[in-house]
Amino acid sequence: MKFFRRFKILGTGSFLPEKVLTNHDLEKMVDTTDEWIKTRTGIEKRHVASELQAASDLVREAAKEALKNAGIAATALGAIIVGTISPDTMFPSTACWVQKDLEIPGIPAFDISAACSGFLYGMDIGSAILPAIGKPILVAGVDVLTKITNWEDRGTCVLFGDGAGVAILAPTDEDKGYLSSIIGADGSLGELLVQPAGGSRMPATHETVDRKLHTVHMKGNEIFKHAVRTMGDAAVAAIEESGIPPDDIDMFVPHQANNRIIEATCKRAKVPLSKTHITISWHGNMSAGTIPIAFHDAVSKGLIKRGDKVLFAAFGGGFTWGASVLVF
Ligand SMILES: CC(C)(COP(=O)(O)OP(=O)(O)OC[C@H]1O[C@@H](n2cnc3c(N)ncnc32)[C@H](O)[C@@H]1OP(=O)(O)O)[C@@H](O)C(=O)NCCC(=O)NCCS
Repeated sequence: MKFFRRFKILGTGSFLPEKVLTNHDLEKMVDTTDEWIKTRTGIEKRHVASELQAASDLVREAAKEALKNAGIAATALGAIIVGTISPDTMFPSTACWVQKDLEIPGIPAFDISAACSGFLYGMDIGSAILPAIGKPILVAGVDVLTKITNWEDRGTCVLFGDGAGVAILAPTDEDKGYLSSIIGADGSLGELLVQPAGGSRMPATHETVDRKLHTVHMKGNEIFKHAVRTMGDAAVAAIEESGIPPDDIDMFVPHQANNRIIEATCKRAKVPLSKTHITISWHGNMSAGTIPIAFHDAVSKGLIKRGDKVLFAAFGGGFTWGASVLVF
């Protein structure tokens, strides 16, 4: 095996807020049915942050678990990277709020805005700067999309949930790390999935609030078509660059926005569904939080073991995408 970048994932962790919203709860809020949501997406329920919980609160809890599993103290960390599009505040970054909570001032901390690809962007960039940092790096993916959801829009409100996942990367000489990693973007498709207001293009006014322009606006159908192609192509390219045949992939952890997109990606990448970790039914699409939570779930259940080859693939608003083959 030829390694693209060597690093070891010392530990993983995740956190989902306590409150659960089922499809049946949504039936009482908008014109939808449990049956429609399940057959069109695979989602049965999602976790929803409380009024008091922001992105960094979720990351802090996931980080504590990951540090415990890694067997290191927070003071051993050399950097914090958080993938998110629903930060606590426009600034400071969520990574800085996490750093404050972990009480480890001094090390670099920054966010990456790559929507649902945020965790794979974080892993790629984290592993690239690891040799310069020389100490473990905490990479998180988190989103609290229910805070920017239009609860009157049945086309979006049934899809999203909240959650955070963390992986701690460390330098290693062992045969572990990336066989391949690809990240990319096509900004010309930005309008398909956007939170229009709240930035410098359209600062907050009474009108933007009244028109619900601070919520997720999505052209679901068009995204679906691009997602199937983009995620499939990225997965195929990551496998090709890894130099191993698709049969050698032990587990595929895809971004989970829709079961049908996952199935189409598996078909294109020639990875069977039986080797694909699908968790969408119990948490919905948590954007950057989805992959690290599903990854942690598979690791903690023993479905991914040391030495296994894991394929990741994601797509998201921007448009952004990422895919990688990693030896755990
Ligand atoms: C959103 C999504 C589930 C919709 O599924 P779809 O099969 O494309 O459905 P359509 O949008 O074509 O809508 C079909 C019908 O269902 C209706 N519908 C939409 N949402 C509904 C809901 N929650 N409940 C019931 N009916 C709904 C539509 O109004 C439409 O009705 P019409 O035929 O009378 O006009 C699907 O397009 C999707 O998953 N897209 C990707 C979204 C995504 O991944 N976003 C995040 C990117 S990371």
